[in-house]
Amino acid sequence: MAPGEPIEIDLFAHLKYEWSHLTGVTDIVLAALVFAHVLAAMGWLGGGLLTTFAVGPNLRKLTQTASLEFNARILPNMIRFTRTAAVLTVLFGLSLLGYVYSQDNTYFSSTAGTVVSVGIVFAVITVGIAFSMILPSFMKISKLAASALDGGQVPPQEMMALAKRARMGSMIALVLLLGTLAAMVTASVS
Ligand code: HEM
Repeated sequence: MAPGEPIEIDLFAHLKYEWSHLTGVTDIVLAALVFAHVLAAMGWLGGGLLTTFAVGPNLRKLTQTASLEFNARILPNMIRFTRTAAVLTVLFGLSLLGYVYSQDNTYFSSTAGTVVSVGIVFAVITVGIAFSMILPSFMKISKLAASALDGGQVPPQEMMALAKRARMGSMIALVLLLGTLAAMVTASVS
Protein backbone atom coordinates (compact mmCIF):
# COMPACT_ATOMS: atom_id res chain seq x y z
CA MET A 1 0.00 0.00 0.00
CA ALA A 2 1.35 3.44 -0.99
CA PRO A 3 1.84 5.92 1.83
CA GLY A 4 -1.16 8.23 2.20
CA GLU A 5 -3.54 5.85 0.32
CA PRO A 6 -6.92 5.68 2.14
CA ILE A 7 -7.59 2.44 4.00
CA GLU A 8 -10.97 0.82 3.24
CA ILE A 9 -12.59 -0.86 6.22
CA ASP A 10 -15.63 -3.08 5.73
CA LEU A 11 -17.58 -2.45 8.95
CA PHE A 12 -19.99 -5.29 8.15
CA ALA A 13 -17.40 -7.94 7.32
CA HIS A 14 -17.92 -9.75 10.62
CA LEU A 15 -21.72 -9.77 10.11
CA LYS A 16 -21.33 -11.24 6.63
CA TYR A 17 -18.98 -13.84 8.05
CA GLU A 18 -21.39 -14.74 10.85
CA TRP A 19 -24.36 -14.94 8.45
CA SER A 20 -22.58 -17.22 5.98
CA HIS A 21 -21.23 -19.23 8.88
CA LEU A 22 -24.76 -19.77 10.24
CA THR A 23 -26.57 -20.38 6.95
CA GLY A 24 -23.88 -21.71 4.66
CA VAL A 25 -24.94 -19.22 1.97
CA THR A 26 -23.41 -15.88 1.20
CA ASP A 27 -25.97 -14.79 -1.40
CA ILE A 28 -29.24 -14.53 0.48
CA VAL A 29 -31.10 -12.93 -2.45
CA LEU A 30 -30.25 -15.91 -4.67
CA ALA A 31 -31.28 -18.34 -1.93
CA ALA A 32 -34.62 -16.52 -1.41
CA LEU A 33 -35.39 -16.48 -5.16
CA VAL A 34 -34.51 -20.18 -5.58
CA PHE A 35 -36.64 -21.02 -2.51
CA ALA A 36 -39.69 -19.10 -3.83
CA HIS A 37 -39.26 -20.44 -7.38
CA VAL A 38 -38.91 -24.08 -6.31
CA LEU A 39 -41.79 -23.79 -3.79
CA ALA A 40 -44.12 -22.43 -6.50
CA ALA A 41 -42.92 -25.09 -8.99
CA MET A 42 -43.65 -27.81 -6.40
CA GLY A 43 -47.19 -26.46 -6.04
CA TRP A 44 -47.69 -26.41 -9.81
CA LEU A 45 -46.24 -29.86 -10.56
CA GLY A 46 -47.66 -31.40 -7.37
CA GLY A 47 -51.13 -30.01 -8.10
CA GLY A 48 -50.95 -31.35 -11.67
CA LEU A 49 -49.81 -34.83 -10.63
CA LEU A 50 -52.41 -35.10 -7.84
CA THR A 51 -55.28 -33.96 -10.09
CA THR A 52 -54.30 -36.15 -13.05
CA PHE A 53 -53.38 -39.38 -11.25
CA ALA A 54 -55.21 -39.36 -7.91
CA VAL A 55 -58.34 -37.18 -8.15
CA GLY A 56 -59.47 -37.46 -11.80
CA PRO A 57 -59.43 -41.27 -12.19
CA ASN A 58 -61.25 -41.76 -8.85
CA LEU A 59 -64.10 -39.31 -9.49
CA ARG A 60 -66.18 -42.03 -11.12
CA LYS A 61 -66.23 -43.87 -7.78
CA LEU A 62 -68.53 -41.10 -6.49
CA THR A 63 -72.27 -40.95 -7.05
CA GLN A 64 -73.35 -38.65 -9.88
CA THR A 65 -74.53 -35.95 -7.44
CA ALA A 66 -71.31 -36.10 -5.39
CA SER A 67 -69.24 -35.88 -8.57
CA LEU A 68 -71.26 -32.85 -9.75
CA GLU A 69 -70.82 -31.22 -6.33
CA PHE A 70 -67.07 -31.85 -6.47
CA ASN A 71 -66.81 -30.34 -9.96
CA ALA A 72 -69.00 -27.36 -9.08
CA ARG A 73 -67.60 -26.49 -5.64
CA ILE A 74 -64.06 -27.90 -5.24
CA LEU A 75 -62.67 -27.91 -8.79
CA PRO A 76 -62.70 -24.05 -9.04
CA ASN A 77 -60.43 -23.88 -5.96
CA MET A 78 -58.06 -26.43 -7.47
CA ILE A 79 -57.99 -24.43 -10.72
CA ARG A 80 -57.17 -21.22 -8.79
CA PHE A 81 -54.42 -22.94 -6.78
CA THR A 82 -52.70 -24.44 -9.83
CA ARG A 83 -53.05 -21.21 -11.86
CA THR A 84 -51.50 -19.14 -9.03
CA ALA A 85 -48.65 -21.64 -8.59
CA ALA A 86 -47.94 -21.58 -12.36
CA VAL A 87 -47.90 -17.77 -12.52
CA LEU A 88 -45.64 -17.53 -9.43
CA THR A 89 -43.25 -20.16 -10.82
CA VAL A 90 -42.80 -18.11 -13.98
CA LEU A 91 -42.52 -14.77 -12.10
CA PHE A 92 -39.95 -16.06 -9.60
CA GLY A 93 -38.18 -17.98 -12.41
CA LEU A 94 -37.83 -14.79 -14.48
CA SER A 95 -36.63 -12.84 -11.39
CA LEU A 96 -34.10 -15.60 -10.70
CA LEU A 97 -32.94 -15.52 -14.32
CA GLY A 98 -32.60 -11.72 -14.17
CA TYR A 99 -30.63 -11.93 -10.92
CA VAL A 100 -28.31 -14.71 -12.13
CA TYR A 101 -27.70 -12.76 -15.37
CA SER A 102 -26.99 -9.52 -13.46
CA GLN A 103 -24.25 -11.38 -11.54
CA ASP A 104 -22.82 -13.10 -14.60
CA ASN A 105 -23.58 -11.73 -18.06
CA THR A 106 -21.94 -14.74 -19.75
CA TYR A 107 -24.65 -16.97 -18.18
CA PHE A 108 -26.42 -17.76 -21.48
CA SER A 109 -23.22 -19.01 -23.11
CA SER A 110 -22.55 -21.38 -20.16
CA THR A 111 -23.80 -24.98 -20.00
CA ALA A 112 -26.20 -24.05 -17.17
CA GLY A 113 -27.62 -21.13 -19.20
CA THR A 114 -28.14 -23.30 -22.28
CA VAL A 115 -29.88 -26.08 -20.33
CA VAL A 116 -32.07 -23.54 -18.46
CA SER A 117 -33.07 -22.03 -21.84
CA VAL A 118 -34.34 -25.46 -22.98
CA GLY A 119 -36.30 -25.72 -19.70
CA ILE A 120 -37.77 -22.24 -20.22
CA VAL A 121 -38.97 -23.17 -23.74
CA PHE A 122 -40.71 -26.27 -22.28
CA ALA A 123 -42.21 -24.14 -19.47
CA VAL A 124 -43.56 -21.52 -21.91
CA ILE A 125 -45.20 -24.23 -24.08
CA THR A 126 -46.70 -25.74 -20.90
CA VAL A 127 -48.14 -22.38 -19.83
CA GLY A 128 -49.66 -22.02 -23.33
CA ILE A 129 -51.31 -25.47 -23.12
CA ALA A 130 -52.51 -24.83 -19.54
CA PHE A 131 -54.12 -21.48 -20.30
CA SER A 132 -55.59 -22.36 -23.72
CA MET A 133 -56.65 -25.98 -23.21
CA ILE A 134 -56.61 -27.34 -19.64
CA LEU A 135 -57.91 -24.49 -17.47
CA PRO A 136 -60.73 -23.44 -19.87
CA SER A 137 -61.91 -27.09 -20.10
CA PHE A 138 -61.93 -27.49 -16.30
CA MET A 139 -63.72 -24.15 -15.88
CA LYS A 140 -66.40 -25.19 -18.40
CA ILE A 141 -66.82 -28.56 -16.61
CA SER A 142 -67.29 -26.70 -13.34
CA LYS A 143 -69.90 -24.33 -14.82
CA LEU A 144 -71.83 -27.21 -16.43
CA ALA A 145 -71.78 -29.12 -13.12
CA ALA A 146 -73.07 -26.05 -11.24
CA SER A 147 -75.88 -25.61 -13.74
CA ALA A 148 -76.76 -29.35 -13.49
CA LEU A 149 -77.02 -29.00 -9.70
CA ASP A 150 -79.38 -26.05 -10.26
CA GLY A 151 -81.61 -28.36 -12.28
CA GLY A 152 -80.25 -27.51 -15.74
CA GLN A 153 -79.65 -30.07 -18.47
CA VAL A 154 -76.05 -31.10 -19.13
CA PRO A 155 -75.34 -33.05 -22.34
CA PRO A 156 -73.14 -35.97 -21.11
CA GLN A 157 -71.25 -36.01 -24.43
CA GLU A 158 -70.14 -32.41 -23.91
CA MET A 159 -68.97 -33.20 -20.36
CA MET A 160 -67.06 -36.30 -21.62
CA ALA A 161 -65.45 -34.34 -24.46
CA LEU A 162 -64.31 -31.59 -22.06
CA ALA A 163 -62.94 -34.14 -19.56
CA LYS A 164 -61.04 -35.91 -22.38
CA ARG A 165 -59.56 -32.60 -23.58
CA ALA A 166 -58.52 -31.63 -20.03
CA ARG A 167 -56.97 -35.07 -19.40
CA MET A 168 -55.04 -35.06 -22.69
CA GLY A 169 -53.77 -31.52 -22.10
CA SER A 170 -52.75 -32.40 -18.53
CA MET A 171 -50.74 -35.44 -19.69
CA ILE A 172 -48.83 -33.38 -22.29
CA ALA A 173 -48.29 -30.55 -19.76
CA LEU A 174 -46.97 -32.97 -17.12
CA VAL A 175 -44.45 -34.53 -19.52
CA LEU A 176 -43.24 -31.02 -20.46
CA LEU A 177 -43.12 -29.94 -16.79
CA LEU A 178 -41.03 -32.99 -15.89
CA GLY A 179 -38.74 -32.09 -18.81
CA THR A 180 -38.47 -28.54 -17.42
CA LEU A 181 -37.70 -29.87 -13.96
CA ALA A 182 -34.98 -32.16 -15.36
CA ALA A 183 -33.43 -29.23 -17.28
CA MET A 184 -33.54 -26.83 -14.30
CA VAL A 185 -32.04 -29.36 -11.88
CA THR A 186 -29.31 -30.25 -14.42
CA ALA A 187 -28.54 -26.53 -14.84
CA SER A 188 -28.26 -25.99 -11.10
CA VAL A 189 -25.65 -28.77 -10.74
CA SER A 190 -23.65 -27.93 -13.89
C1 HEM B 1 -40.45 -19.39 -17.44
C2 HEM B 1 -40.27 -20.32 -16.51
C3 HEM B 1 -38.98 -20.53 -15.73
C4 HEM B 1 -37.84 -19.75 -15.64
C5 HEM B 1 -37.54 -18.41 -16.31
C6 HEM B 1 -36.93 -20.46 -14.75
C7 HEM B 1 -35.66 -20.03 -14.40
C8 HEM B 1 -34.77 -20.70 -13.60
C9 HEM B 1 -33.38 -20.32 -13.35
C10 HEM B 1 -32.67 -19.12 -13.96
C11 HEM B 1 -32.85 -21.22 -12.49
C12 HEM B 1 -31.40 -21.22 -11.94
C13 HEM B 1 -30.57 -22.24 -12.72
C14 HEM B 1 -29.10 -22.23 -12.32
O1 HEM B 1 -28.81 -22.57 -11.16
O2 HEM B 1 -28.27 -21.93 -13.19
C15 HEM B 1 -33.90 -22.18 -12.17
C16 HEM B 1 -33.74 -23.26 -11.31
C17 HEM B 1 -34.70 -24.19 -11.05
N1 HEM B 1 -35.97 -24.24 -11.60
FE1 HEM B 1 -36.73 -22.93 -12.95
N2 HEM B 1 -37.53 -21.63 -14.32
C18 HEM B 1 -38.78 -21.71 -14.90
C19 HEM B 1 -39.69 -22.74 -14.75
C20 HEM B 1 -39.53 -23.83 -13.91
C21 HEM B 1 -40.45 -24.92 -13.77
C22 HEM B 1 -41.76 -25.05 -14.54
C23 HEM B 1 -39.94 -25.78 -12.84
C24 HEM B 1 -40.49 -27.10 -12.31
C25 HEM B 1 -41.45 -27.79 -12.76
C26 HEM B 1 -38.69 -25.23 -12.40
C27 HEM B 1 -37.89 -25.80 -11.43
C28 HEM B 1 -36.62 -25.36 -11.10
C29 HEM B 1 -35.74 -26.04 -10.16
C30 HEM B 1 -36.07 -27.30 -9.37
C31 HEM B 1 -34.54 -25.31 -10.15
C32 HEM B 1 -33.27 -25.69 -9.39
C33 HEM B 1 -33.05 -24.89 -8.17
C34 HEM B 1 -31.69 -25.24 -7.56
O3 HEM B 1 -31.57 -26.32 -7.02
O4 HEM B 1 -30.78 -24.41 -7.66
N3 HEM B 1 -38.46 -24.05 -13.07
N4 HEM B 1 -35.06 -21.85 -12.86
